[in-house]
Amino acid sequence: MALWGGRFSTGPDEAFKLFNDSLPFDYQLAEQDIIGSVAWAGALKQVNVLNQQEYDDLVAALNKLLDEVKANPQAVAGAGHEDIHSYVESALIDKVGDLAKKLHTGRSRNDQVATDFRLWCRDTAEHILEAIAELKGEFIALAERELGTILPGYTHLQRAQPVLFSHWCMAYVEMLERDESRLTDAKNRMNYCPLGSGALAGTAYPIDRQTLAEGLGFTAATRNSLDAVSDRDFVVELLSCASISMIHLSRMAEDLIFYNSGEAGFIELSDGVTSGSSLMPQKKNPDALELIRGKTGRVFGAFSAMMMTLKALPLAYNKDMQEDKEGLFDAMPTWLACIHMAQACIKGIKVNADKTLAAAKGGHSNATELADYLVAKGIPFREGHHIVGTLVQMAISKGNNLEDLSLEQFKSVHSIFESDVYPVLEIDACIKARQALGGTSVEQVSNAIEYAKKNGK
Ligand code: ARG
Repeated sequence: MALWGGRFSTGPDEAFKLFNDSLPFDYQLAEQDIIGSVAWAGALKQVNVLNQQEYDDLVAALNKLLDEVKANPQAVAGAGHEDIHSYVESALIDKVGDLAKKLHTGRSRNDQVATDFRLWCRDTAEHILEAIAELKGEFIALAERELGTILPGYTHLQRAQPVLFSHWCMAYVEMLERDESRLTDAKNRMNYCPLGSGALAGTAYPIDRQTLAEGLGFTAATRNSLDAVSDRDFVVELLSCASISMIHLSRMAEDLIFYNSGEAGFIELSDGVTSGSSLMPQKKNPDALELIRGKTGRVFGAFSAMMMTLKALPLAYNKDMQEDKEGLFDAMPTWLACIHMAQACIKGIKVNADKTLAAAKGGHSNATELADYLVAKGIPFREGHHIVGTLVQMAISKGNNLEDLSLEQFKSVHSIFESDVYPVLEIDACIKARQALGGTSVEQVSNAIEYAKKNGK
């Protein structure tokens, strides 16, 4: 049954119906639509459109319907109605007859869908926040487990300076914390209730919208009906949170794919998150991480699609806005699945500390220490930088690390070098020197772990 047949002499073309119907995807709003309808029934009772008995009958039928749609959501998807709002109304008519037709008094699908969708977004954001907190916990656990492990730190994918493996872990905890904070902000901003805005101009019934909003767990009612039915900023914000977070997850994936490569051999991923090759028996591929990296594009695609759809839409509701759902319905579960998969990967990582240490010792990544040594002896940093560059060149030509050069070789470049240069070049000294806040010394990284444990909800 369509909600709007009176003005029309024929029904929609089959092709148009297929094109126009949103039930095949907005069935996912069934629970929210019913919960919103229960609240709306309460508002109608408050303004005496429904008497107590009618209200009780409607709410009992809506609750029954809620159980039914929860038990079999897919049946809703295929029911053939125009959208979830038509479906719920029609299912309600089947249960309570004409009484159900009173429920749409003073309400429009425009304020209804805006309310349903915000409820869905709020629930989804909460699930994602929980998952991010768990992933942070997994990184922190790994950081604690590997506190002594030294890893080459890279810039330009060239070994730059050694860092603690745990410092790498805690870098992602920082990113995830920002993801959490962004999502929490977005959730708080979206938590205003459009119901009672009508089609665009507001409802003609003296509904107490504040009470209605609070009953649905919203902070307050929206303040402008035109904006309330037209606003999809919350969808854009969620997709933007998702995209930024996916960027972080993809960078983590990329780091780990490299660390797991045969060339690096720094880590081994667990069998549980890798797969084999159908042809090459030796292979153990980091598919979970590659998929996280790959799905980033898909989430960002949903974000850019939503931006384009909204651009230059006139106020108030336009059917273009029905396009707000499929991208989000795809992107949010994708994001959530990636967070879960990232957690599984981090949990099962085995770090090969000998390999990471050997790699960190190579690549002349203690060269900065040598420049600082010269600074301590009174040589200006720029000059020290040049002297060390010459020594690196010498070491490379001899196939050596800096610490393998003899004192004579050091002195041949500058007479200021003494045997006290050698302790400075030890890898532990490189790590230990990074004592300032945010550095990679064991103390600083331990502080970061403690901080994250205290502040992570
Ligand atoms: N299925 C529609 C959507 O998702 C519901 C709102 C319909 N409103 C309307 N005026 N046709 O946007």
